[in-house]
Amino acid sequence: MIFSSLNINKEEKIHIQIQNHIKKEIDKGILKKGSKLPSTREVSKVLGISRNSVILAYENLENEGIIETFRGKGTFVAIEKEIKSDDFKVKWNNFIEDYGRLCEELDVVKTELPWKRGMISFKSIAPDESFFDLEEFKRAFLNVFSMEGDKLLNYGYAKGYKPLIEYIKEYMRKKGVLTDGKDILITNGFTEAFDILLSTLTKPNDVIACENPTHNTAIKIMKAHKLNIKPIKMDDDGINLDSLEETLKKYTPKIIYLIPSYHNPTGIVMDGEKRQNVYNICKKYKVPIIEDGFNEELVYSSSHVAPLIALSNMGNGVIYAGSFSKILFPGIRIGWIFADEKLINVLESVKRARNIHTSFIDQGIFHKYMESGSFKRYVKKIRKYYKDRYDFTIKTIEKYIPYDKVLGNGGLYIFVKINGLNTRDILKECYKRNVVFMPGDIFFINKEEKNWMRIGFSRTSEEEIEEGIKIIGEVIFSLKSKNN
Ligand SMILES: Cc1ncc(COP(=O)(O)O)c(C=O)c1O
Repeated sequence: MIFSSLNINKEEKIHIQIQNHIKKEIDKGILKKGSKLPSTREVSKVLGISRNSVILAYENLENEGIIETFRGKGTFVAIEKEIKSDDFKVKWNNFIEDYGRLCEELDVVKTELPWKRGMISFKSIAPDESFFDLEEFKRAFLNVFSMEGDKLLNYGYAKGYKPLIEYIKEYMRKKGVLTDGKDILITNGFTEAFDILLSTLTKPNDVIACENPTHNTAIKIMKAHKLNIKPIKMDDDGINLDSLEETLKKYTPKIIYLIPSYHNPTGIVMDGEKRQNVYNICKKYKVPIIEDGFNEELVYSSSHVAPLIALSNMGNGVIYAGSFSKILFPGIRIGWIFADEKLINVLESVKRARNIHTSFIDQGIFHKYMESGSFKRYVKKIRKYYKDRYDFTIKTIEKYIPYDKVLGNGGLYIFVKINGLNTRDILKECYKRNVVFMPGDIFFINKEEKNWMRIGFSRTSEEEIEEGIKIIGEVIFSLKSKNN
C-alpha cells in the first residue's frame, strides 16, 4: 500500500499531505503511469482520516491531470515520472574505440541499400525458408525436450553438447578427414568461430593472407582485429597459385584464410588437384590454414571434393571452420571449429570467457534433427532446388545481361563482371526499378574492383529471377549507350 509510509502531521492540511505524497511517489518512479490507486475508502481507513480529505486530494490531483478516475474501474496515475534535465548524460560517441567504429563502418547491413518490401532481391544468400522441414524440426524439439529438457536448460559445457560433437566428428570422418588428435568446439556459426580464432591466434598488425575477393564478414573481422591483410589474386578456378606462393614467400603470414567450396562471392569450387597444390604451398611455407567449409554440402554438380583438412592426414596445420548456416537454419547459429586438440583446449577457454557456451537447447534439438536422418533427406532435396535455380539464373543472365565474365559453379550465388561500368551505378538505377543486388566491391579488401556484382538466387522464384535479371540487363544497356 503506497500510503503505509505516510505519517500524517498536524501542521499541514491533510488533503495537501496526500497530494504531495502521491506526487513524490510518482517522482521516485514507484507509481508509474497506469498504476491503480487505492480507493478513497481504503485510504481513509488505513490512515485513520476523514474520507472527505482523501476525496478532495484525489479531485485536486485529477484537476491537475496527474490522476484520472474511470467509473467502475477506479483511479489511476495519468502521467509518467518527470524527466529531470540534470539526468546523467554521456556523449557515447566520444567513448567509442576503434573496434566499435570499424565494426560500424564496415557493417554492410547499415551501409548498403536495404531491401524493401515488394523488391526483387538478389542481395541475400540466406537459404529459402520455404524449404525448411518445420514439422521434422518440431518433432526433434519435442523429443529432445521430453528426454532431457531439464539438463539442456541448465548450464552446459563450453566445448558444446557432447552428442553433437560426436556427430560432427563422424560427419568429418565421412568427409575423409582423420580425427585422431583433433577435437571440436561448437560456436555461434562461422562468424564467431573466425572471431575466436583471430582473437586467439593473432595480434594487431600481424599479417593474414586471403583470397581477394573474399567473404565480406571475414574482411570486417580481419580489419576489426587490425590485421595486415595480404590479398591473393584469384583465377576462374580459384586462388592463383603463383600469387599464393609469392605472398607466402614474401610476407610469411601468420595464417591464411581460404574458402575452397562455393567461395563467397565468386561461387568457385576449387578442384581436387588445386586443393592439393594449395595445401603443398602452405605446408612448404609453414603457414597454417583456416579453411571455411560453410557451403560444402551443396556440391551438386560433381563428385565429392575432399576439404583441405582431409589432405593433412595426421598433420595439424589446417583449422576447419564449419557452419550449417547456408544449408540448414542460419537462425539457430550453430557452427564448429575442428582442429588440433591442444588448440581446441585453448579455444574452449576463450569461448567460455566470451559467452560460456552456445545454447544447449539449440544444440540438442539440432543434434536430434540431424541424427533422425532428416538432414540427409533435406540436403538431397535442396541440392536439386538450388541446382535448378542456378541453371535458370545462368540461362537468364545469358539471355539478358551483356556480361564480360560469369563465375560460379553452383551454390547460392553467381559473380558477374560488367566491364566499363561501376556496378554501383547499375545498382542505383536498378533500385529505382525495385531490384537490388550486392555490389562486388565490398568483397575486395580495399574495395578496389568496381565492375562486379553478386547475384544471390537462393530466395528468388524463377519469375522474379526472369523479371529482375531483365531489368538489370536493360539498365546496363541504357548506361552503356549513355557512355558511348
Ligand atoms: C564464406 C562464408 N562463410 C561462412 C558463412 C556463414 O556464416 P555464419 O555461420 O556465421 O552464418 C557465410 C555466410 O554468408 C559465408 O559467406
